[in-house]
Amino acid sequence: MRIGVLTAGGDAPGLNAAIRAIGQMAARDGHQLFGIANGWQGLATQFVERELTTSELNGIVGVGGTILGTARYDLDNPPGGRERVLATVAENLDALVAIGGDGTQRISHWLAERGAPVVGVPKTLDNDLIGTDYCIGFDTAISLVAESLDRLYTTAASHHRVMVVETMGRTTGWVAAMGGLAGGADLIVIPEFPYTMDEIIAHLVARRARGYAFSIVVIAEGVNLETLGGRETGEITSEGVRGVRLATRGVGQFLSSRIDSHGGFEVRTTVLGHLQRGGSPTAHDRIWATRVGAAAYDAVAASRFGTIPVVRGGDIELVDLAEVSHGQRRVPRTLYDLCAAFF
Ligand code: F6P
Repeated sequence: MRIGVLTAGGDAPGLNAAIRAIGQMAARDGHQLFGIANGWQGLATQFVERELTTSELNGIVGVGGTILGTARYDLDNPPGGRERVLATVAENLDALVAIGGDGTQRISHWLAERGAPVVGVPKTLDNDLIGTDYCIGFDTAISLVAESLDRLYTTAASHHRVMVVETMGRTTGWVAAMGGLAGGADLIVIPEFPYTMDEIIAHLVARRARGYAFSIVVIAEGVNLETLGGRETGEITSEGVRGVRLATRGVGQFLSSRIDSHGGFEVRTTVLGHLQRGGSPTAHDRIWATRVGAAAYDAVAASRFGTIPVVRGGDIELVDLAEVSHGQRRVPRTLYDLCAAFF
């Protein structure tokens, strides 16, 4: 069997562990694995045949990024990209494994509905793919956030400062909330449960009255500036603000300047940015990326196309791609309340 594999959307630590698992298991069963360059772009533009040998896959379990390359490629603009992908898959491959987040899996679902032999693998550092408890890259991202907070804590305490830390996460607060919980944040501001500026200042003042001369405030990049008294240039959807990269809106810097202008606090800002996406995957990401990669291969081998292995209750389930293609997984109130218990 000729199996293709692609990684689409933003890269994430753990992608190579999944690619390796698919390739090693395919080779064991006498199948060939072809690496598609740069996600959907590689199928929609020019298909270049690149067979991934087991020696190429050796030693990449702990390597970050993706050996295939990735791209944010819009198959609908200009129109016709999806149809070209359908044709390329039909001409060149017996199966395709598409590793990616919600945008990728919506395409996978569309292709599968038209008969393409596609299996998905859940990846997103934002952890917002609906229908799965695990996505490749999230654990590494929150580990980086936690480690950063540990470091910021010592300098914040020494200088009696408010440190504002902006995390990734698109329009959900998973990275901020779970990274903040692990790193002992003193306030976590996320799109799901916004605070007004007055509430934030009141919290910092109350902390100081309780004897804490410093505070670490984590804010997710997707927080609506209007909740903090600012202005948005467009409507925020699950995709972000139309045509604007979320990070360029600078919510961390905006929050810092608002705290600063209140007076009485010395404030510094840290934007963690792509440090959250780079480097080696954690052991958790390596293990689970390997597990979902292996499960995707099993689905291909069993011709269970139109499916995606997801993690639920600590185990893997193979579900229809439709289950992950619509909606967004958001931080639930109970989990946020647990974070807030430590503010
Ligand atoms: O979806 C993953 C993510 O890292 C988001 O958290 C972030 O908003 C976006 O990608 C950044 O994308 P880019 O690398 O294209 O700037």
